Amino acid sequence: MKDLQNNAITVLNNNWKDKFSIPCAKLYPFQWFWDSGLIAIGFAHFDMPKAEKEIETLLDAQWSNGFIPHIIFHTETDTYFPGPDFHRSDLHPQSSEKYKSTGMTQPPVTGFVLEDLYRISKDRDATLKFIESVIDKVYKNHEYFYNQRDPQDEGLVYIYHNWESGTDNSPIWDDIWDTMNPPEYTFERRDTTHVDAAQRPSKREYDHYLHIIEIAKQNNYNDQKIAELSPFLVQDPLFNAVLLKSNQSLIDLYRIIGNKNNNDKIHQLQKWQDKGTKAFNNKLYDEELGVYVHYDLRNEKLLKHISSSSFAPLFANLPSEARAKKMVDIMMEKFGNPDQYLCASFDPTSDRFNPKKYWRGPVWVNLNWMLYYGLKQYGFYDIAKRMKQDTIEIIDNNGFYEYFDSRKQEHKNGNAGYGGHNFSWSAALFIDLLN
Ligand code: DGY
Repeated sequence: MKDLQNNAITVLNNNWKDKFSIPCAKLYPFQWFWDSGLIAIGFAHFDMPKAEKEIETLLDAQWSNGFIPHIIFHTETDTYFPGPDFHRSDLHPQSSEKYKSTGMTQPPVTGFVLEDLYRISKDRDATLKFIESVIDKVYKNHEYFYNQRDPQDEGLVYIYHNWESGTDNSPIWDDIWDTMNPPEYTFERRDTTHVDAAQRPSKREYDHYLHIIEIAKQNNYNDQKIAELSPFLVQDPLFNAVLLKSNQSLIDLYRIIGNKNNNDKIHQLQKWQDKGTKAFNNKLYDEELGVYVHYDLRNEKLLKHISSSSFAPLFANLPSEARAKKMVDIMMEKFGNPDQYLCASFDPTSDRFNPKKYWRGPVWVNLNWMLYYGLKQYGFYDIAKRMKQDTIEIIDNNGFYEYFDSRKQEHKNGNAGYGGHNFSWSAALFIDLLN
């Protein structure tokens, strides 16, 4: 295990680009929002200055309205599509003057990441000083979400693009693609020159992805216009669970900092937290399936599919004990078969399940990491242990891949790792799980 841990450190150091990390070479050559946060957790175990710099750089790209983009294009390269010239973040009047970026965001991990840095730190006073220097920016990001992404003032925020969910080509989105008929765009994919096309989204899926961006661009990325016009408008249980988890971390950290001037912010965060937790449990829980699901705000209906996002609320301590028990029973029944590794990204018993294709079935280390902590928090120690062991085993079998086949039999030859190789968050969260 020591060797593997050293390899993980090498992966992170090789993907470090002076002030931020790339998720992996070739396929993802810039800084991604939620990758960046999760990578900082890995660095915190052996190089706190890099962990802090990673977060500082991410927050340096924040827009003046509090928004943080999903990709920050630090360098010019034509090996990625769609790049800055397609996204045109400059169309938004409050976008960063310093960095080119996308005009969409990603699950807001920064709040809980700051708390993880504090948990891991061997010099908590110094780490707290760092946290104090950045925490208001993270607060401002949450303020953006609640002020701009919650048109009906429900306490739940929307995402307007599948790339904002982080679970890019989940079969859940098929229901939304069925409501759209975008033009056939002409463009040159780059991802499929780096990775087998069988492991990536289809051309037709990309037409949908680009079409939503075209609509947002026609409206200069104005949030109100997007809420009115985007064919994709979803309250996502993973995204909202991450936001609520981060709210709680900000409350806890402001309390530890203990400056009276922050009391108003604590009060506001608590209001978002109470309202959000209630709305989350009322609106996103499906009694029939016994898990949390996505809500399609555009078409006003639940998207009734079970994915690894359905269990993410455990991480944010949102379900009651009774609901948590039911959810975990369902997880074990559908995803926990002994011939499967925990936890497939989509229901293995569904006919939309595809164990090779990105978010349509493969196991992802970031979700396993969240579920591990969530299960432990609710006292499901044995299943948490399996979640951790499965995660370590799939990496041990194959290396630090982006995602992995969930079927154990596919791992015999050590080539059940898919997507990008030497992938940063797989390495970072592996280090955290071992320590
Ligand atoms: C990609 O290019 O597939 C990225 O995941 C988008 O965020």
